[in-house]
Amino acid sequence: MSIKVKGFLKDVGGASRITAMRREMIQSAETTPHPQDQIRELADALHPGRQNFVVTQIRPASPTSRTFRLEPENGHIPPFQAGQYINFYLTIGSSTLTRAYSISSAPYEAAGDKPFVEITIRRNVSYFVPDYFFGEVKEGDVLSAAMPFGQFYYEPLRDAHNVVALAGGSGITPFVSMAKEIAAGCLDCGLTILFGSVKSDDIVCGEQLSAAERACTERNAGLIAAGKKTGGQVRVIHIMSDDPDWTGEKGFVTRELIEKYSCGIDCVGTEEGAKKIDTSYFFCGPLAMYRAVSRSMEEMGITLRRFRHDVMAQPGNVKQIPGFPEDQIGKTFQLTVVRGIQKDVIPARADEPVAVALERAAIPVDTHCRGGECGFCRSQLLSGDIFVSPLGDGRRREDKELGWFHACSAYPVSDLVVKIPII
Ligand code: FES
Repeated sequence: MSIKVKGFLKDVGGASRITAMRREMIQSAETTPHPQDQIRELADALHPGRQNFVVTQIRPASPTSRTFRLEPENGHIPPFQAGQYINFYLTIGSSTLTRAYSISSAPYEAAGDKPFVEITIRRNVSYFVPDYFFGEVKEGDVLSAAMPFGQFYYEPLRDAHNVVALAGGSGITPFVSMAKEIAAGCLDCGLTILFGSVKSDDIVCGEQLSAAERACTERNAGLIAAGKKTGGQVRVIHIMSDDPDWTGEKGFVTRELIEKYSCGIDCVGTEEGAKKIDTSYFFCGPLAMYRAVSRSMEEMGITLRRFRHDVMAQPGNVKQIPGFPEDQIGKTFQLTVVRGIQKDVIPARADEPVAVALERAAIPVDTHCRGGECGFCRSQLLSGDIFVSPLGDGRRREDKELGWFHACSAYPVSDLVVKIPII
């Protein structure tokens, strides 16, 4: 395309005419927004903010865990990726708090005629909320929540096609979502799950994992018969840490087991399968397991780019956090909380994050990831000392220098004065 220059005066004259026309159009335009704003409609569909969900089904996912099915009151669930989480806004007693749970259902199930999402919760894995879900929540209840959040999902531009998932206990939930999505043909990657449980009679979401594995094997039946593959795109290796009768893998998710099963699932039984292929490792589980797995990753020379992790927040035992000042355990400090012109003084235990102290005192604090990553609980330290978990320190360098911290991953080690946002 060529631009014809007509000469200085003609060009300036043309530009002035356009400017005048533009001004005229602006002046004659309606002052109220157009009722059909497609950009706004799309933004609202993708990020609807808080929604009400009806609990339509509660079923056991193992003897110690339950799956809760939630259907949106407005009939619509925003699109999400397998591995992302939903954040609940709960009122428990006098406390108002937020809690995030990985979605254990698959994205395709949220896009059907009767859309739903599911979460699977194990009793007693974090502070007081599981008890609420187990003891209080019943079918028909309405819960307020927002979604989707989180970066813990398979992204083909970033991750290797061969994925090895390393999960412990209820850390299996994001991988259940991925496995179901793959089984439905909606996600294309090879997924090997090394799943650590204590006993074979308490495997969280065991049936859903078997169903996904079966569906993938059936889809590959032709290739398997032709000897080109030995299984489907999903395989699950169960590892029992305390089950003498278990005949499969026993112990913990060790480096030996990770290496044994890192061969690409798409090429199991083929020449390529014999080679070590590019693999992304995804970890989700408790802190103690993360420490062992991250050591294995280091020993195996896995780069940070190929190791993605979602450590389940708030370990019951803070001693497991590297560098935690153990001599502070058992102490309680005075926490002065400044919100605008309001000031509250509350107790804060040294072995609980500042966010939990706020929640116990019914002071609203916005949390999503509860792992120091998202920044929703960003607060300012006006005086005192905190210990910040190195496993959850997602602060920017400037924030650290200027005294900002994330309340979900910071522990008091002296009396504190903090300033938090008003929500
Ligand atoms: S809740 Fe995400 S950083 Fe605190």
